[in-house]
Amino acid sequence: MNSIILYFHENEKLARELSGRLKIEAGEINLRDFPDGETYLRLNNRVQNKEVIVICSLNNPNEKLLPLYFLCNLLDDAGADSITLVAPYLAYLRQDKIFNPGEALTSVYFASLLSQFIDKLVTVDPHLHRYSNLQEIYHIPTYVVQSAGLIADWILRSVERPLLIGPDSESKQWVSQVARMAGAPYITLEKTRFGDRDVEISLPELDNFQNVTPVLIDDIISTGKTMIRTIDLLKEKGLKSPVCIVAHPLFTGNSYEEIEKAGASAIISCDTIPHHSNQLNTSDLIASVLSHLSS
Ligand code: R5P
Repeated sequence: MNSIILYFHENEKLARELSGRLKIEAGEINLRDFPDGETYLRLNNRVQNKEVIVICSLNNPNEKLLPLYFLCNLLDDAGADSITLVAPYLAYLRQDKIFNPGEALTSVYFASLLSQFIDKLVTVDPHLHRYSNLQEIYHIPTYVVQSAGLIADWILRSVERPLLIGPDSESKQWVSQVARMAGAPYITLEKTRFGDRDVEISLPELDNFQNVTPVLIDDIISTGKTMIRTIDLLKEKGLKSPVCIVAHPLFTGNSYEEIEKAGASAIISCDTIPHHSNQLNTSDLIASVLSHLSS
């Protein structure tokens, strides 16, 4: 296939892994800020008539979107045949409903903007709550990689007598799948969110689950408050220190350290956003989707 991989600097590791697995050249872009904050961008490779795979995880989306837009325009101008965006973390899926009058439905606005300048989108475990799939808001073909198998394998290898715990009802879709694959029991909790950093969680009766190792599984950790509140409750019930597993380690502020301090025995993440907690490598799964796209 006549393809090339280009990547944002932060995603170099994934780009190199995909390049190796798919035997596709990894090119380089020269992307930097002028002193006044404007973007300078230059292509160092020929892309004419090529399928271009752009790797850019969309954590910190506001600062990445404009450079990504410029890059895709540049690729068009340089004669690229098509642009596939691999965004292991896809942002702007939380505001999937107008909760209060006057709010912006940013999930829709973001999806329609991205759909204007890329041809295909590959992502990992998008935060789908009220949307049943990405096609409800994206106007281009979208392909989803699921991390459940990676998480289940890790649990099978590393945790004795696991009890999988999803901290809210939304997490049921991931936790139930991982539980099935790992052959482990699971429960989901009830979460009420009062603000960005203020959540309340209620635990069900856990008398049937003695001597288990709690494994908290969520798709996103941002402020860490969801994990911390759940860890506090498990401690109050006298359960063992939990393992925390997350698909998208956003870890804003000091949330990683705060979760450790709250009493997590381990914090494990998929490599959708580079972080020192990354232990679950998604590149094989992403490579497999990409190879199907071009075959
Ligand atoms: C929310 O619905 C997500 O699944 C996560 O539970 C949430 O994003 C975690 O946020 P935080 O770490 O800020 O509590």
